[in-house]
Amino acid sequence: MNPSHVIIVLSHHHYKLLATNYKLFTMINFQNVTKIYDKVNKEAIGIEDVTFQIEAGEFVSLVGKSGAGKSTILKLLIGEEKPTRGRILVGEYEVNKLKNNELPHLRRQIGVVFQDFKLLPSKTAYENIAFALEAAGRPQSEIEEFVPQVLDMVGLSHKKYNFPHELSGGEKQRVAIARAMIHNPAVIVADEPTGNLDDINTEEIIKLLMRINELGTTVIFASHNKDVINKVNKRVISLVDGRLVRDEAQGKYIIM
Ligand SMILES: Nc1ncnc2c1ncn2[C@@H]1O[C@H](COP(=O)(O)OP(=O)(O)OP(=O)(O)O)[C@@H](O)[C@H]1O
Ligand SMILES: [Mg+2]
Repeated sequence: MNPSHVIIVLSHHHYKLLATNYKLFTMINFQNVTKIYDKVNKEAIGIEDVTFQIEAGEFVSLVGKSGAGKSTILKLLIGEEKPTRGRILVGEYEVNKLKNNELPHLRRQIGVVFQDFKLLPSKTAYENIAFALEAAGRPQSEIEEFVPQVLDMVGLSHKKYNFPHELSGGEKQRVAIARAMIHNPAVIVADEPTGNLDDINTEEIIKLLMRINELGTTVIFASHNKDVINKVNKRVISLVDGRLVRDEAQGKYIIM
């Protein structure tokens, strides 16, 4: 990373850095969480009795085969789904108790990145990011200050007027990551963010997420890509059929 990036990012993120680097606290806490999607159909178990804690500033990979429960955990984390049983704490929020009108507050603390980018096709890269601030009612002055900063952070200042169809897959995902960072979130949740990318772009996106993590943001990264997980070499939580079967500080992807 070139040093000017660090300075620009720091000016936007300084308070989060202070909060996460110097004072360890539990950012995410799942306590005996079960999600059954359909109570009639007992097959529809998302996750079963899952317990883990993630400290502020950690980078955690969530691994497991298709249907293992990775997306379920991420959806529960952002309040998109409600747990059937158990407690979910994210920062100061007890997510399982939040009312729908309280969810936007939580969501501003969590940046979300998806496999399919979810950019608005009729908006430029700049506008896609600005829209996230507009929707939160932030003033124009803030938009003009912060959007260029996050575009610079992901190395896409030169593509700010491009529409999604004028960007490569890797570039689209970098815009999505910039958008996820715009509220200076405590946590970034990435659900299979490299699933649509080739090897080179996959590596770029993982490097970017790791850099964001080094600057103080907690990152949770769900993937079933063995090579990617093994390269990351950080904490790995492994799921099989909705159950947490392994949680290792410098884990490998070893579920067959
Ligand atoms: N809305 C839903 N209704 C019913 N069952 C669901 C629903 N969403 C997920 N499930 C079930 O919950 C289980 C876990 O699904 P989840 O999407 O969390 O898996 P995943 O690990 O993210 O898989 P993938 O790698 O394919 O994305 C699966 O058995 C799935 O069929
Ligand atoms: Mg999934």
